[in-house]
Amino acid sequence: MLNEFRMQLPIFQFRDKIIKSIRENQVIIIAGETGCGKTTQIPQYIYENDSNLRIAVTQPRRVAAMTLAERCSLEKQTKLGQLIGYNVRFDDCTSKDTQITFLTDGMLIREFIVDQQLKRYDIIIIDEAHERTVQSDLLLGLLKNLCRKRKQLKVILMSATMQIEKFANYLETEAIHIIEARTHTVDVYNVPIRQQDYVESMVNTILQLHFTQPEGDILAFLTGQEDIEDVREILLERMKISNQEKQLEVKMLYSALPPEVQMEAFQKCVHRKVVLATNIAETSITIDGIVYVVDCGYVKIRSFQIGKAIDTLLLAPVSKAQAEQRAGRAGRQRQGQCYRLYTQQTYERLAKYMLPEILRVNLLSVILQMKAIGIQNVLTFDLIDRPDMELMLANLNQLVKMKALDSEFNLTQHGKNMSSLPLEPQFSHFLIKAYECGIYDLALNSISILQVENLFYFQRGSKENLQKILSKFKISNSDHLTKANILRKYEETQNKKSFCKENSLNHKTLQKAISVKQQLKDYMKRITQKEFEKEDYDKFKQVLSESLMFKHAFYSPQDQAYKLKQTNQLAYIHPESVLFNQKPKYVIYNEVILTKKVYLRDVTEIDEL
Ligand code: CDP
Ligand code: MG
Repeated sequence: MLNEFRMQLPIFQFRDKIIKSIRENQVIIIAGETGCGKTTQIPQYIYENDSNLRIAVTQPRRVAAMTLAERCSLEKQTKLGQLIGYNVRFDDCTSKDTQITFLTDGMLIREFIVDQQLKRYDIIIIDEAHERTVQSDLLLGLLKNLCRKRKQLKVILMSATMQIEKFANYLETEAIHIIEARTHTVDVYNVPIRQQDYVESMVNTILQLHFTQPEGDILAFLTGQEDIEDVREILLERMKISNQEKQLEVKMLYSALPPEVQMEAFQKCVHRKVVLATNIAETSITIDGIVYVVDCGYVKIRSFQIGKAIDTLLLAPVSKAQAEQRAGRAGRQRQGQCYRLYTQQTYERLAKYMLPEILRVNLLSVILQMKAIGIQNVLTFDLIDRPDMELMLANLNQLVKMKALDSEFNLTQHGKNMSSLPLEPQFSHFLIKAYECGIYDLALNSISILQVENLFYFQRGSKENLQKILSKFKISNSDHLTKANILRKYEETQNKKSFCKENSLNHKTLQKAISVKQQLKDYMKRITQKEFEKEDYDKFKQVLSESLMFKHAFYSPQDQAYKLKQTNQLAYIHPESVLFNQKPKYVIYNEVILTKKVYLRDVTEIDEL
C-alpha cells in the first residue's frame, strides 16, 4: 500500500535523475509544488541507493521536523528514532542507528558550533529554503564555505518554486531540478469591498461555503493562536444555533498546539472538516482532502526596528507568492476554490515576496552563534542577503555589554558559555549570572517554565479565574518569579494531576518544563560547578533586569499605558500577567506581542530603570 503510494507521487519519475545528479554535483537544487514528495521521498531515495550515508534534513519548524520523521518511519516501517529520527530543541529522538535525521535549522547551527566540519553527516538537505528564515540563510552561508573544505560533502537545497535563480547564483550551481506536478485549477475569488474584521468575515465565509457548496474540506489561513481560537469559538457557537443537519468538524493547526492535537487536523472526518491554520500549512505540511481555501491575507512576522532594540510580532499583509501558495493548497486532488478576504486591488499592491527575515529581525542570537562557529568578521560574511551594517554593529555592541565579546569583538569564555546554551542570549546570560549569584534553582525554574507554551488550560468561558489562580502563586510582583513558583509547587506536590486540575494548569506542559529544566541543568553542569542556593528575590530581579537591559518600560500616566524605554512605543500589560490590574512604575518584560493591542508578556516590576 505505502509503496504504491510512494510510487504515485510526482517526484518518483525523477528518482534516478536526482540520484545521478547528486553523484555528479556537490550542490543541487530541487524545487517543486508542495505535496509532490520532496521532503519525505528524497532522503529515502538517497538511503535506498546507498545505505551507508548519513543524512540531515532541516526544517524551519519543530512540528514539521517531528511529523515528517514520523511519516517517513511509517513509510519505511521502522520505529521512530531508529533508522529515521528527529532532533529539535529540548527533544532529541535519534539513536546511534539513525541515518536520516530531521532537525530544525537552529539545531543544525548548534551542531556547527560543536563540529565546524559537520562530519556526522554525508548529505545535508536544507528544506523550505524559500521561507528565508535567518537560520536557513545562515546555514546556506556556512555550507557554501564548508563545501570548499569538504569535497565529499553533498548539499541539497529544496524549496517551493520561487526565486530559484537567486539560490542557484548564490550557491554557484547549475544542477537544478524542477518537479512538474499535475495540479488542478483553482478558481480565485476576492471580496468586492474591504473587510473591517477578518475574523468575522472568515466565520461568515466558512459557514457560507459549508452550507452551499458540495463536499470537500476547507483550509482557512489565519495568523495565530488568538484569531484561530476566536474563529473556532464563533463557528461552534453559530453551528449550535443553526441546528442544521450538516455538521462541521473544526480542527486547529498552529505551532504552539500540543502535537497530539495537531495530529487531529490530518485525520479524515466523517463530516466536512475545516482546518484553521497558520502559515504552517502553506508549504511545509500537506493536508489531504482540501478543496476550499479561505485566506485572511495576513501573516504574523517577527520584525525589528533598526536602531531600536526590540523584536515585535507584527501583523503583516502576505506576499503575492504566499497568496499563490495558499490558493494552491485547494487544487491538489481536484479542481478547487480559493476565497481571499481582501480585494483585488489589495492583492495587486502586495509585495512579490516577503522581505527575508535576516533583513528585518534582531540578529543578537545569530551573531553570537556566528562568533561561536569561528567566523572572524561577521560584517563581511557572505550571506545571500546582507543585513544592515548599522544593525549588526548595534548587536555586536550589545554582546560587548553582556561581556560575551571583548572590545575587539572576540568571543570571551562567557560568550562561549552563553552560546552553548539552547536559549536566547539574554536568557543564557541571565542563567549563568544567576548561578554565579547562587540563585540557580529560582532562575532554572523561571527560565524552564518560560520555554513552554500553553501553561494554563481553561474550559471555554472560565478564563476569568486566571487572576484568582495567579494570585495563589504570586511572588513579588513578577511573572518570572510567579511562574518559577508554579513549577516549584508542581514539583513538590504528590498528586500532580489533581494539582493541575485545581489550578487550571496544563499537566503536559509542566511535564515538559520539568524535562527542559533537567536538560538545562545538564548544560549548566558543563559550565559551572557552583551549587549553593539562596532564596533572594531582589537579587533575582537585579540580575534579570541587567540581562533584559533592552527590555525596560515605564508607566506613563497621561497615556495610561507603558512606554518602552528604547522606542517610546506604547504598550499594555498582558491580561495573563500578575501585574494586569496594577500599574507599577517600572517594569521589565520578555516580549512585545501584537494581537488586539500591543502587549508586554511576562512582566516583572523593578525599582528603577
Ligand atoms: O515536501 P513536499 O511538499 O514536496 O511533499 P512531502 O511532504 O514529501 O509529502 C508528499 C505526500 O506525502 C503528501 O502529498 C501527502 O499526501 C503525504 N504525506 C502524508 O500523508 N503525511 C505526512 N505527514 C506527510 C506527507
Ligand atoms: Mg516539503
